[in-house]
Amino acid sequence: MTAPDLTDAIARCAARTERFLAARLERSAIPSRLRAAMVHGALGGGKRLRPFLVQSSAALFGVEAEHALAAGAALEMVHCYSLVHDDLPDMDNDTLRRGKPTVWVQFDPATAILAGDGLLTEAFALLADPLVHPDPAVRAELIAALALGSGPQGMVGGQMEDIEGETTALDQDAIFAMQAKKTGALIRTGVEMGAILGRADPEIRSGLIRYGAAAGLAFQIADDILDVTATSDALGKTAGKDLAQNKSTIVALRGVDAARDILDRAVADGIDALRDFGPQAAPLHALIRFFASRQS
Ligand code: IPE
Ligand code: IPE
Ligand code: MG
Ligand code: MG
Ligand code: MG
Repeated sequence: MTAPDLTDAIARCAARTERFLAARLERSAIPSRLRAAMVHGALGGGKRLRPFLVQSSAALFGVEAEHALAAGAALEMVHCYSLVHDDLPDMDNDTLRRGKPTVWVQFDPATAILAGDGLLTEAFALLADPLVHPDPAVRAELIAALALGSGPQGMVGGQMEDIEGETTALDQDAIFAMQAKKTGALIRTGVEMGAILGRADPEIRSGLIRYGAAAGLAFQIADDILDVTATSDALGKTAGKDLAQNKSTIVALRGVDAARDILDRAVADGIDALRDFGPQAAPLHALIRFFASRQS
């Protein structure tokens, strides 16, 4: 798959995800200020790469597009909640996200906490909905996978280690372990959700999970490189934050060139993990390269 074809495919998935999330947030009875804050955090921006991962993984198994869309939207809700909370004054204290003021700046920190809580719980309500899959056993497995990826053993645990890493410098292995949780876990979960929807056998699943782990590492190292090399305008979020907050990153520990080498190795590892999948895995190949070369 060529880079322009990938860009088109991601844009189509992003537009469908945006419409799906907008309809979903419209549907429920939510206090208007809370709804507005959830909409601010979830709609209008974002690359929607995690739904695209679910879609691309599900496509390997011929899963219906509607099922992958709904499951991907649930994962994206968790991702958006993680960003709303990540930006809070007591977390990364960020004022700009997706080219807009962060939710706590636009509303207030209490509303941002609740908007994040709302997106998180709605994600699980969505996964319990038969529109994700007619078989309740598949839905239960999706719920368990997303809970593991997003909870204290996954993203939330990684966020804790990221915050602790501001005051106690982490060594390289500890940074990898922290990144595998804070960012890697949701990316890996995206690939896994496609395999769950497709009822893939354990062996096939483990190949995909290895791809997901490499993709997650590539994604966060690219994020840390962009933090020092890109502008806030290009990123839609404040550049230079990691150094300012004394974050433990590979870039801070080893420098940009060493980080790029690690990034290249992660991409090669991810592509190697796909070697048994054949041409249907072309979007996943292209995607991990994009994770490494992205400019925003
Ligand atoms: C940003 O994720 C947070 C990290 C995990 C590094 P994305 O770069 O996917 O953010 P959006 O969704 O496109 O805004
Ligand atoms: C965020 O990592 C990871 C999660 C939100 C779980 P960062 O703190 O590096 O993300 P940005 O740079 O603010 O997007
Ligand atoms: Mg953070
Ligand atoms: Mg942050
Ligand atoms: Mg960052």
